Amino acid sequence: MVKKITVRTLFRKKKEGKKITMVSTYDYLSAKFCEEVGIDTILVGDSLGMVFKGEENTLNVSLEEIIYHTKAVRRGAPTRFVIADMPFGSYQISKEKAVENAIRVIKESGADAVKLEGGEEVLPIVEHLSTIGIAVVGHLGFTPQKIKLFGSAKVVGRNSERIRLVEEAKKLEKAGAIMLVLEATPKDVAKEVAESLKIPVIGIGAGSEVDGQVLVFHDLVGLVEDIKPKFVKRFLNGSKLFKEALKQYKEEVEKGIFPSEEHTYE
Ligand code: KIV
Repeated sequence: MVKKITVRTLFRKKKEGKKITMVSTYDYLSAKFCEEVGIDTILVGDSLGMVFKGEENTLNVSLEEIIYHTKAVRRGAPTRFVIADMPFGSYQISKEKAVENAIRVIKESGADAVKLEGGEEVLPIVEHLSTIGIAVVGHLGFTPQKIKLFGSAKVVGRNSERIRLVEEAKKLEKAGAIMLVLEATPKDVAKEVAESLKIPVIGIGAGSEVDGQVLVFHDLVGLVEDIKPKFVKRFLNGSKLFKEALKQYKEEVEKGIFPSEEHTYE
């Protein structure tokens, strides 16, 4: 029987210097692939707003959508550590609202943890959620929910931002965060953060000297064609393969080749 991945498994991996793998995805089948190949943790990221729904940014994702997609992922990956992203607006209004929404996500979706973006401003929420038993993953560096403030995606942590980033990471750990995602951060800053914390630090565009990596499933299998940030590696030319299959299907239907006897009932 495959052992369930828990917070302890992830802490142990960091302690033993073993890299942690994380994939951000939103559906049953891709989660099942992650389960089968032994990806440690799955994030049901609010990137689903862009990748799944085709929106311009992540801001329009609802709590219901996160719960819906997390349930599907949980079914596909029963033993992986599943993290549900708290969408924009679900934890910024008040501590009470944040707690109510995080409890809903945990109870209804089957997630092991929730993730929320930000530093100083989310510390009271992280602290409270941890106190009541909810595992919280932090997210620093470029935080897509602040896209309107940033103007566009950017590297965060250079020069004067460095001290603040490292301090906020330490404060998140102190507040009870069990893990930290660092996005678009210079590699030496990310290394300093990972070395300063006991909790695992997972990078995306943060270099290799952190405790693990996360990529979006659709990026890593090469299904996303129009955007390719520097940190994305396509491990497959998925869009080419999918389009070849679709073209062949279209051609065979149009020419009456499909369905053949093999795909037909007597
Ligand atoms: O929403 C998401 O998928 C994420 C990862 C890219 C870290 O936050």
